[in-house]
Amino acid sequence: MAKHSGAKQAAAERLEVTIDSLGAQGDGVGSLADGTPVFVPFTAPGDVVVAEVKAKNRNGISAELVEVKTPSPDRAEPACAHFGTCGGCQLQFLKPDVYAAWVKDRAAMALAHHGFSADLVLDPVISPKGSRRRLALKALKTVSGVLLGFNERQSHRLVDVTACPVARPELTALFDPIREVLDATLEQAMHATVHMTLTATGVDLLIEASMALDLAARERLVAFADAHDVGALHWQDQGFLDPVAIRRAPAMTLSGIHVPLPPASFIQATDEGEAALVAAVTNACKGYKRVADLFSGIGTFTFPLAREHQVLTVEGAKAALDALSSGANMATDLKQVVPLHRDLYRRPLTAKELEAFEAVVFDPPRAGAKEQVAELAKSSVKCVVAVSCNPNTFSRDARMLADGGYVLTSVQPVDQFLWSPHLELVGVFTKQA
Ligand SMILES: C[S@@+](CC[C@H](N)C(=O)[O-])C[C@H]1O[C@@H](n2cnc3c(N)ncnc32)[C@H](O)[C@@H]1O
Repeated sequence: MAKHSGAKQAAAERLEVTIDSLGAQGDGVGSLADGTPVFVPFTAPGDVVVAEVKAKNRNGISAELVEVKTPSPDRAEPACAHFGTCGGCQLQFLKPDVYAAWVKDRAAMALAHHGFSADLVLDPVISPKGSRRRLALKALKTVSGVLLGFNERQSHRLVDVTACPVARPELTALFDPIREVLDATLEQAMHATVHMTLTATGVDLLIEASMALDLAARERLVAFADAHDVGALHWQDQGFLDPVAIRRAPAMTLSGIHVPLPPASFIQATDEGEAALVAAVTNACKGYKRVADLFSGIGTFTFPLAREHQVLTVEGAKAALDALSSGANMATDLKQVVPLHRDLYRRPLTAKELEAFEAVVFDPPRAGAKEQVAELAKSSVKCVVAVSCNPNTFSRDARMLADGGYVLTSVQPVDQFLWSPHLELVGVFTKQA
């Protein structure tokens, strides 16, 4: 790490600063001579930069990059033409090994806040370019056509994208056709959100816009779906979900089992990420007979687990659980799968109920699963596997389990959002009888 030179005030709101490290959100971090941290997005350790001060608070100074005076050797050529304006993929200017080291560090930093050692963190599994199978794009109808893309960093300004190197090509191939069909459909100045998911039956599109479809618009969208072999197209107007063109019912293949995919259901973001998460979860559960899969969604972990174990699968979204049940009913080579529809925030499985299981997997939304973890911490379950898309709530939940007598044995980082600070973790906890 380059030794920082401190910073000198070059003009009222401008600083020259040497970047020493990368923070948890991926911003370069330098410091003033008095030690005040300065956060500058799009900078790498070793850069000497000029940055403009944007905000000051008790955490330090947020500044915007004006000029890189001396570039760091950690820099690489960004892969995307939209780098710098588009709000996604902010770390694509780092060399791959520098990025991978930061991903590992990101997990270690979050764990350190709750007293866990960095030695527990394994090398990350990072999904490659061109692998993201779900995207949520913003659209806006303007006088010169439809803009389709992502918001600028920390702004609502839309960047019209022609390429997205992290996404599956089956999705990016539809960007222009979507622009065209929305241009003919949306009213002037209207916004829409386009959710794209690559499923086992093709691309599944869900378009949200505050507009009911008339017959002409409906026919246009059906013709678009036919022309581009879109698997399914739903239109959502103020909560009303309209199945405009269901050419093939959306479905996923999970551990070789065909599972229907209800609209807006959760799936992992890349094939590679899903495989890494499944491997970490199934390895941790080896040797245990009765397993519970909490926050199971449509069964990403239930199906591979059910090849070896009896599984209680608990989920709050009824449509997802019904899809899982229908996949389980069609499969012939699974041990027992028992589905349970339950709100695990309001009614977590109690320590008493958990006694029936030797291993428990839980994979909650970003907020974590405080209520469920409190019960797990009191339980006698031998192995708890925490899957999380938020290193901060993961570490908080890990602390509750550790305080209940669990030992954290390993943390596997799985990065499905290449070049972003978004990270999944799989933590394995054991408790001696
Ligand atoms: C991060 S997803 C994980 C899904 C699944 N494990 C997978 O990998 O595909 C979180 C899941 O928790 C479910 N969920 C959210 N809130 C819940 C609650 N209060 N009780 C039970 N399930 C809930 C969501 O419907 C979603 O399926």
